[in-house]
Amino acid sequence: MNNVPQHVSIIMDGNGRWAKARGRERVYGHLEGVESVRAVTEAAVEAGVRYLSLYAFSEENWNRPQAEVDRLMELMMEAIRNEVKTLMDNGVRFVVLGNRARLSATLNKAIDDLMEKTSACGRMTLIVFLSYSGQWDILQAMKKAAAERGSEGVRDMTAEDFGKYLVTSGIPDPDLLIRTSGEQRISNYLLWQCAYTEFVFTDVLWPDFRKPEFRAALETYASRDRRYGKVK
Ligand code: IPE
Ligand code: IPE
Ligand code: MG
Repeated sequence: MNNVPQHVSIIMDGNGRWAKARGRERVYGHLEGVESVRAVTEAAVEAGVRYLSLYAFSEENWNRPQAEVDRLMELMMEAIRNEVKTLMDNGVRFVVLGNRARLSATLNKAIDDLMEKTSACGRMTLIVFLSYSGQWDILQAMKKAAAERGSEGVRDMTAEDFGKYLVTSGIPDPDLLIRTSGEQRISNYLLWQCAYTEFVFTDVLWPDFRKPEFRAALETYASRDRRYGKVK
């Protein structure tokens, strides 16, 4: 495939509606959504994508009913436990980014273990955004920069300097952002990092988004003309 994006990011949306359409509890949709994560991770590795990032849980998602929040955190634990071998076999480095202070000690420990185990994997980096929001990221970056540089040092900061304080420091900005389920909004995701990202919106609900849908999005991306404000 030509013109493969280096970094693909996905707002995985529509699990609840997928379950509801089947007369099931919302959590059933989240469970099936884990299968999509597995399939899409594999497809991304196969296509030669270097970074795949997934919006799994936003800061705002903490405001959902406690039972759903608890189930989502449990699912995350289970996925981490079950996927170690597959990730390592496929050369996938695992990274979690977000407001980790809000996660339980047990989950944080499991995340650290998996990040450590896969730290030398070099084929692709899988980034899971957990308890993340774009505004939170920009604010924590601003506070860190001010604490480190003082008001003098902040005055002459460039956008490139600022990017080093975001949690995504060292990770290239997404080339392609996919959102499933028909919603066409950013929902407080990578606000700074998506300055020149190409967007692909699809009506497919996340549990139905598998390898063919992922490849179709890559093809759409390949046909885009990125100009970065310049004249071609
Ligand atoms: C995405 O599916 C998963 C998370 C946000 C955690 P939703 O749970 O938002 O499903 P819908 O949008 O209600 O269908
Ligand atoms: C965005 O989905 C967050 C994630 C996919 C993790 P939401 O379902 O929370 O977004 P809104 O509420 O429709 O904007
Ligand atoms: Mg949703």
